[in-house]
Amino acid sequence: MSTGDLRLVPARPEHVDYWLVLRAEPGARRYVDTDEDTREQLLHRIAEASPLGDTRAKGYRWFVEYDGRLIGTVSARDVSRMHGRAQLGYMMSEAYHGRGLGTRAVGMMLERLFTGLPFLQRLWLVTLAENAGSQGVARKLGFTFEGTMRGHCVHLGQRRDQQTWGLLRSEWEARRSG
Ligand SMILES: CC(C)(COP(=O)(O)OP(=O)(O)OC[C@H]1O[C@@H](n2cnc3c(N)ncnc32)[C@H](O)[C@@H]1OP(=O)(O)O)[C@@H](O)C(=O)NCCC(=O)NCCS
Repeated sequence: MSTGDLRLVPARPEHVDYWLVLRAEPGARRYVDTDEDTREQLLHRIAEASPLGDTRAKGYRWFVEYDGRLIGTVSARDVSRMHGRAQLGYMMSEAYHGRGLGTRAVGMMLERLFTGLPFLQRLWLVTLAENAGSQGVARKLGFTFEGTMRGHCVHLGQRRDQQTWGLLRSEWEARRSG
């Protein structure tokens, strides 16, 4: 477990160059469809990400800083007030994989989302069936494996299975207080 200073900073336009590099890394491309967004589209996505206080927001994004360096990004999208839910995404620089930092960063995002958005009752995520790192993060943070969607997407030219994982507010609160 790395113990350095880890921070989430709200997405800003100047993060776009790091984000482009991150998305082009082999470790990211193996598991995430990253090649469809241009620099302008990423800037648009950053502009769309809202501060937690924005009551009409559809999504939030933070960049992850570790000892002052950018090492990843975490996000919540498709935020639904009606259903009290949001879908999570996360991506860390390959050089920092396997050190517990992804788990710490996503854990910090859970804290922000559940404390900042009282309507939120459920967080969920989708991962390729072979993405053991992503499943490791979800498992360590108390998510439940909810099932496999067979042949649910095409990734790198092949039809793949995807898993869904979910975490309810009550489960997060129980872990936090216990
Ligand atoms: C998924 C990702 C964020 C994980 O970040 P990370 O910092 O490497 O994860 P952690 O070090 O916190 O590991 C969490 C758990 O998963 C396990 N794990 C991590 N990478 C693994 C791998 N490649 N294979 C098997 N287990 C792995 C760890 O061992 C750890 O469990 P443990 O503490 O019981 O050993 C990172 O691999 C990544 O950015 N991948 C590319 C993008 C991506 O796949 N995003 C998710 C899309 S759904």
